[in-house]
Amino acid sequence: MSTLSNKRIIVGISGGIAAYKSAEIVRRLQDAGAEVRVVMTSSAEEFIRPLTLQALSGHPVHADLLDPEAEAGMGHIELARWADLLLIAPATADFIASMVHGRANSLLNAIILATPAIVAVAPAMNQGMWSHPATTDNMAMLAKRQVRIFGPDSGVQACGDVGPGRMQQPEQIVEQVAGCFAGQQLSGKKLVITAGPTREAIDPVRYISNHSSGKMGYALAQAAAEAGAQVTLVSGPVNLEAPERCNLVRVISAADMLSATMDACTDADILIAAAAVADYRPVTVATQKIKKHAEAINLELEKNPDIVSAASTAYSDLFVVGFAAETQDIESYARDKLQRKNLDAIIANDVSRSDVGFNSDNNEAWWITATASKVFSIRSKTQLARDIVDAIADQLKA
Ligand code: C5P
Repeated sequence: MSTLSNKRIIVGISGGIAAYKSAEIVRRLQDAGAEVRVVMTSSAEEFIRPLTLQALSGHPVHADLLDPEAEAGMGHIELARWADLLLIAPATADFIASMVHGRANSLLNAIILATPAIVAVAPAMNQGMWSHPATTDNMAMLAKRQVRIFGPDSGVQACGDVGPGRMQQPEQIVEQVAGCFAGQQLSGKKLVITAGPTREAIDPVRYISNHSSGKMGYALAQAAAEAGAQVTLVSGPVNLEAPERCNLVRVISAADMLSATMDACTDADILIAAAAVADYRPVTVATQKIKKHAEAINLELEKNPDIVSAASTAYSDLFVVGFAAETQDIESYARDKLQRKNLDAIIANDVSRSDVGFNSDNNEAWWITATASKVFSIRSKTQLARDIVDAIADQLKA
């Protein structure tokens, strides 16, 4: 899987002859799994039609800073926040100068000023313009501001000159964009997370379940996506918003969770089983609501399938992380579970405490593998999730 999978890229096009190559850049970025939006300056529209870029990116091209309709949809600040990386290709001498001066006179300039994303430029201009001290100074200023600079190439130019200033080829540019994300720990990895409780139907209106909030699993999904993984979150019923950039598969029962997880793990690298799967389910589910005539009723229960064990048995290359919610002898019970369920690592926590674990925003946990163990002292579930993602990445490297 490419490091571009799931990434959000804005391709900004300024007005130079190399703008025709931008269409190929958009296509290649999309082929590598990125989501692409295109922003054009008005002079870029003289070189390539917005319709071409709209058709390729599958989204309307953004061009106008002062268009109330566009601002009501995805406005400049929203676009600036949306992107992981902003690539200006081609970046003309004039556009580079406007960046250096922090201009906000076009939609593209305004986005560049507002974005926290990585900014990259692929310069394209005549060799004389490229060699001019003004451009040299401007490029030095962009480099100082951590703007990534791709190229330019040297060779025959559109005007007939020969020298440096040609925009790099689309494949080279896309490779360098991918390189900007290569440092992310889980970049290129497919990760499946189970989260939340399951509900086991007794009749059409009643069920057996537990108090799992799903917060830990959702925080893990978010942290893994931020670390560059492609995440499938298989979630039981919870009151949480879908985390960004995850493929959310909603399930109800353990049986549903088992089949969704086994499907998702087919081509996955990592499984984190954070779900609190109901241990038992009714042997039969009444088709009609059970009437409360009897003073007592007996429910016959059978054991649910163990999802994490099924996945670790079926997929031997999968790196499998389980959870152990314990109330006593935490480390020794967790170690036993690690072996019994054929896990690569287990995260153990003490559910007898009210300040951590179920329904709390905080958690304290032990990270245990066959050869090592360490404690993550009390911290937010968001932070713990990031630490677990780090621990997984370290383990995969080892
Ligand atoms: O056996 P126990 O429920 O304590 O094991 C906890 C670990 O096993 C968790 O990672 C949980 O998600 C997973 N599990 C599972 N399927 C079950 C029961 C637990 O995947 N039926």
